[in-house]
This record gives sequence, structure tokens and C-alpha cells, in this order.
Amino acid sequence: MNKEDVFILGIESSCDETSISIVKNGVEEISTVILSQMDTHANYGGVVPEIASRMHVENITIVIEECLNKANMTMDDITAIAVTYGPGLIGSLLIGVVAAQTLSYIYNKPLVPVHHIAGHIYANNIGKEMQYPLIALVVSGGHTELIYMEDNYSFKKIGGTLDDAVGEAYDKVARIIKVPYPGGPLVDKMSYEGNDVYDLPLPLDDDTYNFSFSGLKSAVINLAHNEEQRGNEINKNDLACSFQKRVVDILTKKTLKTIKEYNVSNLIVAGGVAANSGIRNRLIEECKNNNINLTIPELKYCTDNATMIAAAGYYAYKLGRRADIDLKATAVTELN
Ligand code: KG4
Ligand code: ZN
Repeated sequence: MNKEDVFILGIESSCDETSISIVKNGVEEISTVILSQMDTHANYGGVVPEIASRMHVENITIVIEECLNKANMTMDDITAIAVTYGPGLIGSLLIGVVAAQTLSYIYNKPLVPVHHIAGHIYANNIGKEMQYPLIALVVSGGHTELIYMEDNYSFKKIGGTLDDAVGEAYDKVARIIKVPYPGGPLVDKMSYEGNDVYDLPLPLDDDTYNFSFSGLKSAVINLAHNEEQRGNEINKNDLACSFQKRVVDILTKKTLKTIKEYNVSNLIVAGGVAANSGIRNRLIEECKNNNINLTIPELKYCTDNATMIAAAGYYAYKLGRRADIDLKATAVTELN
């Protein structure tokens, strides 16, 4: 171990994954443990906040221990602790924050607060440092944003959704066409089995950098109801295909417009919906044709994990960001 090396222990518990990770110098993943509660919540058709926080309480100490053991390290080897303080489910966040405060206090380590979306962005830094300036397309269950970054930890919001986030729209459409939880990945898969035959609108196809997905979602609801009333079966694969095509079309169109107008050549994609194969494939193709340097995280880093929190935590630590021992978990908070 080199004396200058910085080892960040990251903690993520904002939704239904309890995850701990150790990352060296913001780039190199040493060890990660993720305990997903997905199977439990699948029984209820979505995440039940009360159950999620209880499961975090039961699991977090086990996950911390397992992560350190896997790395063959002790808390003495850790430089600082980075934790997701928000946004997310307040009860879930609280468990991670209390664990971080306790470790920081007992082992006398700096406590670094990390915004969940900063974490998703820094998933692109794992294995190779991001190149600046860049545009980040953030697509998750709670966010759909275009962000300009001139350098590490400088986040300038250019545009965002005026209503639903794209992941939220996927989950709602999944429910309408009666696809089991987790809906997003299944709708993605089904879209490849169907054809774009349904006449859905391209949402907020205007000159702004903003998005809107509630109109597209309503169009899917109306179409499903109308067909049902007429006694017609909808073809779920075709509807998934038409929906995904509109989503991918508008995300790609506005992202390319932003890249052009901000005159940058680096694009990164962040958030759970970065796992969507339609978005990945289209952006790979468009970026190749337009000489844009595209980075999309490996699938395992797209959905919630602590590796991304530890990676972001390294830069926050370097910039001197520190939380007091009374750091508060926050359900809603702007990216900073
Ligand atoms: O980033 P994430 O794990 O949680 C938040 O921070 O919100 O994102 C979860 C969202 C869910 O809405 C889920 O349905 C969606 O990401 N998602 C997908 C895919 N994989 C996950 N949506 C579309 N296609 C996918 N392959
Ligand atoms: Zn997330």
C-alpha cells in the first residue's frame, strides 16, 4: 500500500440495495458487496419503504464486515467514509447515514457526504477517469437530467424532466401492461420482441433541453384502455417497442443537441436506466457517427451500488467536503 493512496469506504442504502464498497483513488474497485432486497419487494409489486429500512438494519453490519474481509483490509486501512445522504427513501437513507456516522466516530475517519446522483455519474469513473468537459445524461427512477461538467464535481444543470422521470415512466408502463416488478428491464426486453406499430407521440419535441414523459405515459394508458373497451387485445411487445422507441428517440435527440450546442466531445450516461439496451445501443451508434467519446457504466454499476458512491466520495474528499457527525439524511435534495 502506497502512503499517498486514498481508500474510500462507500455506503449506499438509498432504496432497496444495501451496498458497501472500497475504492482506491476514485478509480480502482477493491471490493464491493451488494445485498439486494428485490426478491422481497417483488412480492408487493414495488419497493415497500418500511420493509426496506428494516432489511437495511438487519444487513448493514454484515455487509460492511464482508466487504472489509473480501478486501483483506481493516478499518485502519480506510482513509475516509463516503455515504449517500440523499435523495431517496428517508428510512433507508437513515440506516446508511447512521452506520457512516458510527464508523467515522469510532475509527476517527473523515465523513464525506455524497449525493446519490453524483454517485451515478461517478460510476463512469470506475476503471478509467472521466474526461472533461462533458455532458452527463442522467436517467434513473427519480431523475432525468442533462448536466454540464467542466471538471470534477462541477455540476451545471442544463435541462431536466418537467414531470415524470424516465425510469418512473418505464415502471408505470410496465404496470399498465401487467409486467411484474421490476418493470423497466422487462419492458426493455419485450421491446425487442415487438414492432413499432402504435402511434405514440414523441414527447416534448421542442427546442428546449427539457423532457416530459407524463404525456407519453398517458398515451399508453389511453391506448390500453381504448383497446380493452373495444374488446381488442393489445400486443404488449409491440406497445413496449413503440414506447421504448419514443423514449430513446427523444433522449438521443436532446442529448446530441446539447453536446453540439455546448461544444463538448465527451458524453457519459448515468443512472439505473443507463442499463436500458435501447438507449445504450442507440447512443453507441450515434456517438460513433458523430465522433463523440461515449462512456456508459458496465451494467453492474448502472443500478444502485456503493462503488459509485466511493468513487464520487474520493473527489468530494479531495475537495475537502466533510460532514459533521450530525449529518442528516435528506429525501429530496438538489445535485451538488
Ligand atoms: O438508478 P436506479 O437504480 O434508482 C434510482 O436512483 O432511481 O434506477 C432505477 C430505475 C427503475 O425505474 C428501473 O425500472 C429502471 O431504473 N431500469 C430500467 C432498466 N433497468 C433499470 N429502465 C429501462 N430499461 C432497463 N433495462
Ligand atoms: Zn439510483
